Amino acid sequence: DDSEQLEPRPPVVTVMGHVDHGKTSLLDAIRKTDVAAREAGGITQHIGAYQVTVDGHRVTFIDTPGHEAFTALRARGAQVTDIAVIVVAADDGVMPQTLEAIDHARAAGVPIIVAVNKIDRENADPQRVRAELAAKNLTPVEWGGDTEFVDVSAKTGQGLDQLLETIVTLAELSELRANPNAPASGTVIESRLDTGRGPVATLLVQRGTLRLGDPIVAGTQAGRVRAMTDYRGERLKEAGPGTPVEVLGFDGVPEAGDRFRVVESEREARRLAQERAQR
Ligand code: GTP
Ligand code: NA
Ligand code: MG
Repeated sequence: DDSEQLEPRPPVVTVMGHVDHGKTSLLDAIRKTDVAAREAGGITQHIGAYQVTVDGHRVTFIDTPGHEAFTALRARGAQVTDIAVIVVAADDGVMPQTLEAIDHARAAGVPIIVAVNKIDRENADPQRVRAELAAKNLTPVEWGGDTEFVDVSAKTGQGLDQLLETIVTLAELSELRANPNAPASGTVIESRLDTGRGPVATLLVQRGTLRLGDPIVAGTQAGRVRAMTDYRGERLKEAGPGTPVEVLGFDGVPEAGDRFRVVESEREARRLAQERAQR
């Protein structure tokens, strides 16, 4: 029983919604980066994991694609999250992947915050977005419901502070805790084979603390944490619960969605990986 060792951890917040409604732009505005501008065709095609500090509270953000082809990535994002932020462009309104994203959040049983984006646009109609979602049982708090709606603009920065405050308040109510002293475990967020560096995996540590040198197994892949960086590429020696990290040192590429965990030895990691591969 490790209940006495539970400590507060950062919330994992997944940003979901219809294509081009401004998910990546919102995260760019929050982080003061420019990821959206560098994406091929302006379309997000993978999951991004970031961490920001808001008034001393760390918040982990997961960006997901809105294109209809990426249902599996949205589902995966919803499965690891504590809070879903559904982004709806105020000039476009509720669209098919808006509803799909809401379904993923509901299936995962996580609370939803609605960010009504692009309110700087002349034809923005944030009240219509509220009405459309109220019809889907997401009734705004200001209409007597229990869903927080925040009007924002990734372009002008309007409403971003309020959005972050709403996220932090909801996270505090959730009293998210994890044991940082256990062997690390969590989920593979994404993975790829890098020509120079070999298998690269983005891991979300959900329990325990992941350390450089740890023997690790994820799905049918084993290895040892040879190098670990945060989302900015800064080298890390350890990463606690709620932290996304990029890890080198797997023998092969683990699958996104796989669970990972640290084990006693590399030998044990290989044994487990082989056993699973034979199933
Ligand atoms: P996918 O990941 O491909 O689904 O798109 P996304 O939801 O991440 O949207 P993205 O951030 O790529 O933005 C789509 C377009 O909307 C870009 O041209 C942005 O510049 C624009 N945009 C995003 N937010 C705003 C906003 O608040 N106001 C205005 N005027 N434009 C915005
Ligand atoms: Na886009
Ligand atoms: Mg995007």
